[in-house]
Amino acid sequence: IKSIAILTSGGDAPGMNPAIRAAGKVALSKGIDLYGIKRGYLGMLNDEIFRMDGRDLSGIIDRGGTTLLTARCPEFKDPKIRAIAAENLKKRGIEGLVVIGGDGSFHGADLLFKEHGIKVVGIPGTIDNDIIGTDYTIGFDTCLNTILDAITKIRDTATSHERTILVEVMGRDAGDLALYATLAGGGDGLMIPEQENPIDVLAYQIAQRRKNGKLHDIVLVAEGVGSAIEIAEELKKKVHTDIRPVVLAHIQRGGNPSGFDRILATKMGAKAVEILDAGKSGVMIGMEGNKLVTHPISHAWEGERRLSQEDYDLALTLSK
Ligand code: F6P
Repeated sequence: IKSIAILTSGGDAPGMNPAIRAAGKVALSKGIDLYGIKRGYLGMLNDEIFRMDGRDLSGIIDRGGTTLLTARCPEFKDPKIRAIAAENLKKRGIEGLVVIGGDGSFHGADLLFKEHGIKVVGIPGTIDNDIIGTDYTIGFDTCLNTILDAITKIRDTATSHERTILVEVMGRDAGDLALYATLAGGGDGLMIPEQENPIDVLAYQIAQRRKNGKLHDIVLVAEGVGSAIEIAEELKKKVHTDIRPVVLAHIQRGGNPSGFDRILATKMGAKAVEILDAGKSGVMIGMEGNKLVTHPISHAWEGERRLSQEDYDLALTLSK
């Protein structure tokens, strides 16, 4: 392949920069012309496409966010808009595209391939860990550690005041962040969208804990279940501890990528360019059982997604 472009799209995730760096460096090492696209598909549409060189890739491995900037671009659902964007690539002779983002971003890539013959590879980058075809998405591990750090701090004050604190975490429709934060952070209650979450059971569990002499309760609430502020109001009617909601919000998306995310991003970024250079297209990269794998890009929304029931059961057992 002679020329490729890289973009990041959707919500940013720590580790997008090391993915850009690895893809870019591998491309340059193969003598492939390298372009960056600013603001994802919006920048492709608005022709914000620039030649990248080694200077654009240096000093970014440890930086959170994305140096290419990101945006959500609902206009891209319109085939006429996609045609304009594809033309902006073709007029520069760009044949291949590395898309770092979530499944919405993969949809756009799939259509660019099918409608306009642009060779595409998707790299899963989102804190939500909600992409089918990979055990981990880039950004999940860093985000999990940010949540764990917050839980440690919240627990100090929760214990001092003998409070129940509902910690709302991101994840969109997925409960992964809440589940693994419960397991790794010693959470005392868990609400995730993949399961039923009867508030009476939570209230009973909190009452039992207090009878057993526990001084605080940290309950992880995945945003896909609802607002921790509203759930706290409901819970107040059923249990008589002092209850506070905490919404961690966008703190969860920031910060330097963890070592795990940097390695995942680096391997996936390099692999994306190898795939394009081998003439292949229309695939997403995943990490399954500690091995890099590829799937047709549509696997990201056509495959079956399942959260580990075993891990959920363990979290429930340990949170009592
Ligand atoms: O997909 C990443 C994510 O952070 C979700 O967890 C969250 O629901 C959403 O993006 C928030 O989006 P925004 O930053 O546009 O409010």
